[in-house]
Amino acid sequence: MAHQETDLEKIAGRELPAASELAGRFVLQHHDHRKTDAQYGKIMGNLGFGVDFSDYMARATWTADAGWHNKVIEPYGSIALDPGASVLHYGQEIFEGLKAYRHDDGTVWTFRPSYNGARLNYSGARLAIPELPIEDFIASIVDLVRADQRWVPTGQGASLYLRPFIFASESFLGVRAATRYEYVVIASPSGPYFTNGFKPIEVWVDQKYHRAGPGGMGDAKTGGNYASSLLPKIDAHYRGFDEVLFLDAATNSNLDELGGMNVFLVLKDGSVKTPQLTGNILPGATRSSIIRFLEAQGTAVDECTISLAALREGIEAGEIQEMFACGTAAVVTSIGRIAGENFDLSLPNNTVTRHIYDELTSIQLGNKEDSFGWLYQLA
Ligand code: COI
Repeated sequence: MAHQETDLEKIAGRELPAASELAGRFVLQHHDHRKTDAQYGKIMGNLGFGVDFSDYMARATWTADAGWHNKVIEPYGSIALDPGASVLHYGQEIFEGLKAYRHDDGTVWTFRPSYNGARLNYSGARLAIPELPIEDFIASIVDLVRADQRWVPTGQGASLYLRPFIFASESFLGVRAATRYEYVVIASPSGPYFTNGFKPIEVWVDQKYHRAGPGGMGDAKTGGNYASSLLPKIDAHYRGFDEVLFLDAATNSNLDELGGMNVFLVLKDGSVKTPQLTGNILPGATRSSIIRFLEAQGTAVDECTISLAALREGIEAGEIQEMFACGTAAVVTSIGRIAGENFDLSLPNNTVTRHIYDELTSIQLGNKEDSFGWLYQLA
């Protein structure tokens, strides 16, 4: 089916106040132990993914009587947590991932931040976590990135990866929604998610485990979905594969997603297919951007049920030419091999995948006109 605008996309399409209007909502705290020039140089000269962190973090607390309050930008550091905090027992937690990019003229931008803000609340609704107003979400990003500006790197594949999250901090052992929550944003100067450049990844189709089931939390960005993908991922690594592709829990026959990334197929006629949003897969921001970008350039995109059987037949018959995975962290990653219990197939082409990666990253880095209005200037 051709793309129907989703509720997240509708919210993400609304006009946002400029960063200068939102700046200051999170009050900058004094910091007297920022990383030294030597530490800074070492980190920025050798960027990993998500391993080093900046000087500051954003924080706010929610209580039933005061709502979201204590909005601050404070020194990055450990969070004191009561061992009874319910997130540690029942996993009431949601998170987001977005990036800040430095353009050639030195300005700093992010990509569709209100999509992330809307999705945080979508996930929150599923996990009974109170809503954070989108303008507060954007303000936390603006204030944090302005305080941490020196940590926004330059160059292809480099960004300041931002990780907003909310967790239940009330201490109690009964199973119910908490009455106290912490919102935190941390920032990690990062290079590419996959360290092998554009080298295609090899994917194992897991036919035993599922990351999420009907009516579960599969379309919420919550730690539990990622936790459930870890054991299958270890199994796939043991077999020599990079990532796992999950099938749907109801029939064990249709493609869902990779756990941390959505999946796309490119057909011989140039059209593209991706699993439809069933409620079990994450409505990825990159997935949404790719669909809109492809449709704008006249490429047909079919969001549909894709069975593993049809995938295998399509690759064997040469009808399916390319496969790729996408997500904020990795952007777009070519899949060069896909295998499961009784099959092993190669996909040697990645021309269209490469084109999509180049177009998307060119917009993000300010090297191509942003005709969609996706960029938002932070500083
Ligand atoms: C992202 O793509 O940003 C995610 O949150 C997923 C994770 C694999 C890093």
